Amino acid sequence: MIETKFIEKHRQDFDSRISTTSDQESLKQLRIDFLGKKGCVQALMKELREVPREQKQETGLLINEFKQHVNDMLRGKEEELGKPASHQPSKNETFDTTLPGRREITGTLHPITQVMEEITAIFMGLGFQVEEGPEIETDYYNFEALNIPKDHPARDMQDTFYVEGETVLRTHTSPVQIHVMENREPPLRIIAPGKVYRCDSDVSHTPMFHQIEGLMVDKNVSFSHLKGIMNIFLQEVFGKDTKVRFRPSFFPFTCPSAEVDIQCVICGGKGCRVCSQTGWLEILGCGMVDPAVLKSVNYDSEEWTGFAFGLGIERISMLKYGINDIRLFFENDLRFLKQF
Ligand code: FA5
Ligand code: MG
Repeated sequence: MIETKFIEKHRQDFDSRISTTSDQESLKQLRIDFLGKKGCVQALMKELREVPREQKQETGLLINEFKQHVNDMLRGKEEELGKPASHQPSKNETFDTTLPGRREITGTLHPITQVMEEITAIFMGLGFQVEEGPEIETDYYNFEALNIPKDHPARDMQDTFYVEGETVLRTHTSPVQIHVMENREPPLRIIAPGKVYRCDSDVSHTPMFHQIEGLMVDKNVSFSHLKGIMNIFLQEVFGKDTKVRFRPSFFPFTCPSAEVDIQCVICGGKGCRVCSQTGWLEILGCGMVDPAVLKSVNYDSEEWTGFAFGLGIERISMLKYGINDIRLFFENDLRFLKQF
């Protein structure tokens, strides 16, 4: 037989227990004790069966009310315990206003941009001015004016992306030489950093890469000026002990021409897949500006001479940081990019 007093006692018992509950674990236990399968409310329900018919409704209501009460109290307590600690500071908690704040994570410049800026600064220190030119070029600027006629085999040296007809994605920064000389009178000393495009892809070649073009035109400029400037630049970038070699080469727009190699830092010159087992990596092409090029921009080649060079930025960055695959620069993996 359930009496009102009996339910009232359970209620007092519950109320006193919940008032001292201060952690999730004991709250869970309280819920089991009162609402669980073998809990207090369930036991009362069982006993309800024995209650005489005329009292059943009234007792049932009381049990339901009690159940509702337990439910409400448990939910309230749950919310209270679930609140973040900051809403209920404990007495011995202090706030240290001298702690440094959490910093925003900021991006960094791409390693290629960093190396471009470093090299640009070196040449600016040597009196060179920065110029720019278009990435979409005409056949004339990319080839013809640089002494590469239509049927010249040198066109095969660079696998060209054709946009349409006479328009190409520039295969090198050398067309900027022509734009600058068309618009300015000598003497001049310029560099032109930018993107170039070739149908080319492996561990040391990508279809888009960066070059810095250099051009100096003045009276009595000779090959030794070119060598001197290249040596200063390479020692600034790689340090005084860097092994460098000038190798005779061919470009239609320079004569004589050379390519400059630097000892492969990946293998220390022993030969690896990055340097195609040669121990050396080509980083730039250069030479004395061909009189035919000076003629195409109406410079008097009897009066003026000059040198030009074109550096591959990715190659230089690979050697500087010991990176063994050029494609890493363009995969946008933050774990790679964050190291610079
Ligand atoms: C030229 O592009 C000439 N215009 C350079 C030049 C300028 C010579 C002025 C004389 C006077 P070359 O094709 O060798 O030359 O390329 C120059 C540099 O670009 C190479 O030394 C190499 O470092 C880099 N390079 C060439 N192709 C790629 C490629 N696909 N990916 C990454 N770097 C490349
Ligand atoms: Mg080359």
